[in-house]
Amino acid sequence: MKYAVITGTSRGLGASIAALFLKQGVNVIGISRNENNELANLADENNVTYQHYTCHLANVEKVDKVFSIISDQLVRKQTSCIYFIHNAGTVNPINTAENYTAEAIDSHVHVNLIAPMIASSIFLKAVKKCNIPLINVYVTSGAANRSVYGWSAYSATKAGLNRYARTLALEQEELNTNSKAIIFDPSIMDTGMQNEIRSTSKEAFQDVEQFQQYKREDQLRNTNTVAEVLIDILIEPAVIENGKYYSVKDIL
Ligand SMILES: NC(=O)c1ccc[n+]([C@@H]2O[C@H](COP(=O)([O-])OP(=O)(O)OC[C@H]3O[C@@H](n4cnc5c(N)ncnc54)[C@H](OP(=O)(O)O)[C@@H]3O)[C@@H](O)[C@H]2O)c1
Repeated sequence: MKYAVITGTSRGLGASIAALFLKQGVNVIGISRNENNELANLADENNVTYQHYTCHLANVEKVDKVFSIISDQLVRKQTSCIYFIHNAGTVNPINTAENYTAEAIDSHVHVNLIAPMIASSIFLKAVKKCNIPLINVYVTSGAANRSVYGWSAYSATKAGLNRYARTLALEQEELNTNSKAIIFDPSIMDTGMQNEIRSTSKEAFQDVEQFQQYKREDQLRNTNTVAEVLIDILIEPAVIENGKYYSVKDIL
């Protein structure tokens, strides 16, 4: 049995990835602050399971506890493969760096970078004992590779995530394990995150009009289309290129 552990399944890209995995016969465990009842129904229809853990990813103790419970559960079962997909993310705070509060920085870095590092560490340790293939996927952003006025936190955490993924891939290669890590860049999609971006003031975010234009001109991709690209990459673990930066823009 294959399992996908996905952060941020309540809406947006994470909900689409979870739904597509369920339709492919993969059991899904979702983690977010809000539940998504449609996924449980979809799991029933496809004879697989959907389990939800309510967790604020900025809470280190809770993250440690929840992912330890999930990992214990997965290594005890007849698991043939584990996908860990860190999709949850926040673009907030959007503002120039001097306007960030300590609380906002703390929460942002925890959700985007610290939580996936804790989760990956737990899963890597667990699969080492039983040799179950583990595929770590980190959802990134083009903002990791360029500077955007008002997005210093977001660019920093996504760049950190990319480097983390590549280093983890290198280590697992050297250690000759069954674990891989890839980076997935979904490009711009029509989600709540884009709505938040469009609602920002021009003082805080200079490019706001460009993002309003993306929406007006229907340039934002549907999350189901993007999720299909990711599922195509993942469905055959043996051919996934460890350490690769997969970009939707290069594929569609
Ligand atoms: N949308 C775009 O154009 C775009 C472009 C490039 C990259 N991305 C990346 O794609 C990924 C998905 O983005 P999206 O557009 O689908 O975002 P979204 O619609 O805002 O959804 C974000 C998901 O993350 C979860 N999440 C956020 N903060 C959380 C927290 N503190 N604890 C637990 N879960 C949390 C949310 O669940 P709850 O609120 O229920 O907790 C939600 O399920 C993100 O990593 C984002 O950076 C998006």
